[in-house]
Amino acid sequence: MSVSVVVLAAGKGTRMKSNLPKVLHKVLGKSILAHSLDTLSFIENQYVVVGHESDMVIDSLPPSTKHILQKDQLGTGHAVSTVVRGEIFVENKSEYTLVVPGDVPAIDAKDIQNLISEVKTKSSSVGFLTSIVENPHGYGRVIRNNEEIRIVEEKDCNDDERKINEINSGIYCFNTDFLIDNIDSLDTKNAQGEFYLTDLIGIANNQKQDIVIVQVDEDSIKGINSMSQLNEVEDIMQKKLIEDFMEQGVYFQDPTSTYIDSEVTISSGTKILANTHLTGKTSIDVDCVIGPNAQINDSSIGKNSTVINSVIDQSTIQENGNIGPFAHIRPGSELGAGVKVGSFAETKKSKIGKGSKVPHLAYVGDAELGENVNFSAGAITVNYDGKEKHKTEIKDGAFIGSDVMLVAPVTIGEESMIGAGSVITKDVPSKALGIERNNQKNVEGYVDRKKKK
Ligand code: UD1
Ligand code: MG
Repeated sequence: MSVSVVVLAAGKGTRMKSNLPKVLHKVLGKSILAHSLDTLSFIENQYVVVGHESDMVIDSLPPSTKHILQKDQLGTGHAVSTVVRGEIFVENKSEYTLVVPGDVPAIDAKDIQNLISEVKTKSSSVGFLTSIVENPHGYGRVIRNNEEIRIVEEKDCNDDERKINEINSGIYCFNTDFLIDNIDSLDTKNAQGEFYLTDLIGIANNQKQDIVIVQVDEDSIKGINSMSQLNEVEDIMQKKLIEDFMEQGVYFQDPTSTYIDSEVTISSGTKILANTHLTGKTSIDVDCVIGPNAQINDSSIGKNSTVINSVIDQSTIQENGNIGPFAHIRPGSELGAGVKVGSFAETKKSKIGKGSKVPHLAYVGDAELGENVNFSAGAITVNYDGKEKHKTEIKDGAFIGSDVMLVAPVTIGEESMIGAGSVITKDVPSKALGIERNNQKNVEGYVDRKKKK
């Protein structure tokens, strides 16, 4: 059985009151449209109808997805007819055609598979998903009167119809021949003056064709038409994602203050504490404690690591990492096993070898630290001369004292020591003491003399 899917994404999304095309707004770090396309990836033949800001939408599509331009957005029926009338569609004609709105990111692949198989089993002309809801406002209502089945849009409802609480999901499976034969019979005689795809249900019914209706959970067919609905759907999807992680043995101290993007992976035994944000392609290995107040983006955290009150971006932390409180791990930081970066320390584009420590008040930028280096409080790499960035190399076992400035480019040899307060501008050989400091002067009796004045 061959199936194609048409995803409708040409609309502006006027009700969002935003310049960004509606389907490109993000839910859990991924565009609304990408959620639908990923869920529908079991169907090879995908068409996306684009229109408003079409270049932006096309750029966001995976390469295997075909896009069809709907120049003027004259309604969902017009969008589908633009595809159906196209050469590519006819050349690659499949037996069944799914139509899915691009603004419904929580769709469930199982619901769609059920719909396809029901339509197929009953040799129906069309089937669609509906749901019984508490508040049907804004959705098309499903009218079922004796023999009659049709969909009426909110704006076309009379008072009785408006009270109906079975809503149209906008997700249909058509027998492709029925779709081709009838798509041109839609008209614009309705409150919005648009070609409504929904009218095909009434048309099928008038022709006494078999129509399948599959009722599904409301949460999986919620459409996003406004910022408030964006928030509502994101909330639903976030709860589900966190529940799935809990099933796999991840502990969440406070799911209501935790935000996890849909591409994040977390392994069992890890504890996510309150107010933690994990975004992008972040992965957290087993037995970590993350949070409270951790913000980790596009980074990987090795097993048995802790991250407290810290920000980590585009970096890797290997096993037994110990980050925070109050550390800032900036892009390009690669921290080896057992590395400690502690309070008010910042790292950027630097490699820090196994067992090294940057425990407090330090800056490590454009540097390469070997293993077991101690980088004391107040020490920094002076990586920027106002024009260019330069590299600092610190070999295994070196000890960098407090308040040291390492003026790059500079290399500190293996097991060498740098005296506190030094401004180091020349390389220091292995096992040497590098010290740059004036001799101390003690003025005897100074305090008492001052008091007498
Ligand atoms: C639509 C349905 C409604 C259903 C609801 C479910 C119609 C007439 N109404 O209403 O019955 O309950 O979805 O979420 O179909 N689009 C185009 N080209 C156009 C118009 C729209 O591609 O010319 C796209 C939009 O970008 C959007 C999708 O189609 O992704 C649905 O359009 P939208 O305006 O959101 O329809 P709803 O009012 O939500
Ligand atoms: Mg909609």
